[in-house]
Amino acid sequence: MGTKSFIFVACVLLLISLTLSAQAADEKGLGASFIFGDSLVDAGNNNYLPTLSKANIPPNGIDFKASRGNPTGRYTNGRTIGDIVGEELGQTHYAVPFLAPNSTGKAILYGVNYASGGGGILNATGRIFVNRLGMDIQIDYFNITRKQFDKLLGPSKAKEYIMKKSIFSVTVGSNDFLNNYLLPVLSIGARISQSPDAFVDDMIKHLREQLTRLYQLDARKFVISNVGPIGCIPYQKTINQITKDQCVDLPNKLAVQYNGRLKDLLAELNDNLPGSTFLYANVYDLVSDLITNYEKYGFSTASKACCGNGGQFAGIIPCGPTSSMCSERSSHVFWDPYHPSEAANLVLGKKLIDGDQRYISPMNLRQLRDL
Ligand SMILES: *[C@@H]1O[C@H](CO)[C@@H](O)[C@H](O)[C@H]1NC(C)=O
Ligand SMILES: *[C@@H]1O[C@H](CO)[C@@H](O)[C@H](O)[C@H]1NC(C)=O
Ligand SMILES: *[C@@H]1O[C@H](CO)[C@@H](O)[C@H](O)[C@H]1NC(C)=O
Repeated sequence: MGTKSFIFVACVLLLISLTLSAQAADEKGLGASFIFGDSLVDAGNNNYLPTLSKANIPPNGIDFKASRGNPTGRYTNGRTIGDIVGEELGQTHYAVPFLAPNSTGKAILYGVNYASGGGGILNATGRIFVNRLGMDIQIDYFNITRKQFDKLLGPSKAKEYIMKKSIFSVTVGSNDFLNNYLLPVLSIGARISQSPDAFVDDMIKHLREQLTRLYQLDARKFVISNVGPIGCIPYQKTINQITKDQCVDLPNKLAVQYNGRLKDLLAELNDNLPGSTFLYANVYDLVSDLITNYEKYGFSTASKACCGNGGQFAGIIPCGPTSSMCSERSSHVFWDPYHPSEAANLVLGKKLIDGDQRYISPMNLRQLRDL
């Protein structure tokens, strides 16, 4: 073989191997995101519910490019952590809200979002809002989606796609405290009859059943968020009249107690459910670090809501058309009295995708995708 034809053959081989590895990379990419949880990741389900918890009013969504700044039902100024993670892992479309009438056919192949503002692990959580989707119902809805995948791809391809190419994220628990256990009027019965231990036991027992049901429906790659430092949100700081650098003790203590039990539960499920991988997302430590070192991350405040009204931290009246809004939205850790800004979600999302074991264990999201 002459030198020229050798180079030609070598080039063809190189091209073939480049094409093959590009295909492999494509096949390695994330197929679908299935997103469960509360307002931290709701992408519009509550728009379709008669509920007092709504975010499809301006100025929510003002920095959300895909809607050109119009509200979508996301409880923040831009993207949620769910959106950011999907994007970073290579998805070209956001998971669609289950309740949207046009979330049908091929639109569901990138994933479906079941999250609902006000929702929790326990069925009673969030009844103050009249309506919301709790975790039991969100999983009933995934059961419907699961059958739609069988129709779209055929049963064996669908099973493979759900097991290998899909990530199931669950961001829930805050409302079980904020809008159930800690609520003065509605839950007074529960608080008198239940110790924090018994209440957390109840949450863990239900979550175990819920995650096991998802496993029975072929979910294998999971990421479960712990509960953040809910005693540090502008709402809690305002109603408890504490100073800028303080957080409210009881909500944080309850979160820490639940988080310890959650970590054990996920270890148990990793051992007991063959072929499953459950990641523990340590949002509590991530957000605490962000709140403590906000200046280092380029924020000007971690105590005051950008959009909201009432008290020192604009933390009483939720964000809406009549709220005052800050001018530098990306310099606030909190968008409203309860939820992080898009800028904060970006910091958190990046650490969950590529971060180390302090924040995401036993591996990070990129490694989970590539399993
Ligand atoms: C569904 O309708 C909404 C609102 O009209 C639109 O923004 C969205 O892009 C549509 N989604 C799909 C998957 O067609
Ligand atoms: C929660 O509510 C749903 C729907 O109403 C119901 O199917 C489910 O059994 C309930 N779960 C519990 C634990 O009560
Ligand atoms: C899914 O729905 C079917 C009925 O269509 C039911 O028999 C099955 O138990 C459900 N599975 C789960 C895990 O909820």
